[in-house]
Amino acid sequence: MTETEELTDAIAKLPKVELHHHIEGAAQPELVRRMAQEKGLNLSNIFDGSGAYKYADFLQFLDVYEQAVRPFQTPEDYARLTRSNLEEAAAHGVVYLETFVSPAFCGGGDVAAWKEYIHAIREAAAAVPGIDMRVIVTPVRHFGPDPAKAAAACAQDTAGDFVTGFGIGGDENAGHLSDFTYAFDAAREAGLGLTAHAGEWGGPQSVRDAIDHLKVTRIGHGVRAIEDAKLVEYLAASGIVLEVCPQSNVALGVYPSTRAHPIAKLRAAGVRVTVSTDDPPFFHTTMTREYEELARAFDWGVDDFRALGKTAAEAAFCDEDTRAALSEKLETFHV
Ligand code: ADE
Ligand code: ZN
Repeated sequence: MTETEELTDAIAKLPKVELHHHIEGAAQPELVRRMAQEKGLNLSNIFDGSGAYKYADFLQFLDVYEQAVRPFQTPEDYARLTRSNLEEAAAHGVVYLETFVSPAFCGGGDVAAWKEYIHAIREAAAAVPGIDMRVIVTPVRHFGPDPAKAAAACAQDTAGDFVTGFGIGGDENAGHLSDFTYAFDAAREAGLGLTAHAGEWGGPQSVRDAIDHLKVTRIGHGVRAIEDAKLVEYLAASGIVLEVCPQSNVALGVYPSTRAHPIAKLRAAGVRVTVSTDDPPFFHTTMTREYEELARAFDWGVDDFRALGKTAAEAAFCDEDTRAALSEKLETFHV
């Protein structure tokens, strides 16, 4: 084998820990089409000629995302989605996955309905071998603060060993993060780990807002912190972890290429970075592809990817036994 082939082989086999993944955003287009047909929905406008998701920019992406959610209506639909997502992730060596789930899509913010969705998702996840999953309850920012409060009530009622985090996604330019302080305070009181999408479409101030107003320990993306040297220093000193999704950023046009992506600079500055896929089929990515692109762009090797995985295990919203088992899997992996 050539050196490149050896690295490709090692990347495929390396155990991977993924912290930033949206349950509906991971839906394979084939599954969405099949479910749409079963429910009598016409979603042909969200796919291109080759059957892939079609969008021109971030706001269109969010719109296509919300249309792709439409066929997923019942707890059983979400169980099917969970099985499909986990089988796909496990095939790429993911051994632990945190996925964002929004009460707005799963029961409309009603706590009793949400519990049924979580029950179905949990059972489906437990049936897929080789991969462990946790849920991050995630209000959608452009739906506003009231649905976020309802999401926090759902989170409080299901917080435990499966529902372990609270986050926020959606349009980063809608409203202000301080509108969501109430929801994040409630989630923190329920013992949940906290993360927020920031520093993807908003600049460094958006990252500062997430830290100041929501008191998160992880940031979804956060990469635009690179535009503010003081903030980079602060992130490195505080140990806040970035959930970096390079191919998402390239596909949506935040950066023109992997080589132009700031992940290597952030890492070199001492910021704790991890790597995830975000919405894999939307961005034609997988965890394997994420690592391969980083290897090509920055000459990273197995030990770099092991280090990213260890940081992810340290930052995971899980119990200490699970964390120790993940760290051990990463440490004992040999090419
Ligand atoms: N929801 C799904 N993917 C997202 C992204 N990349 N940014 C914000 N919200 C999202
Ligand atoms: Zn995301």
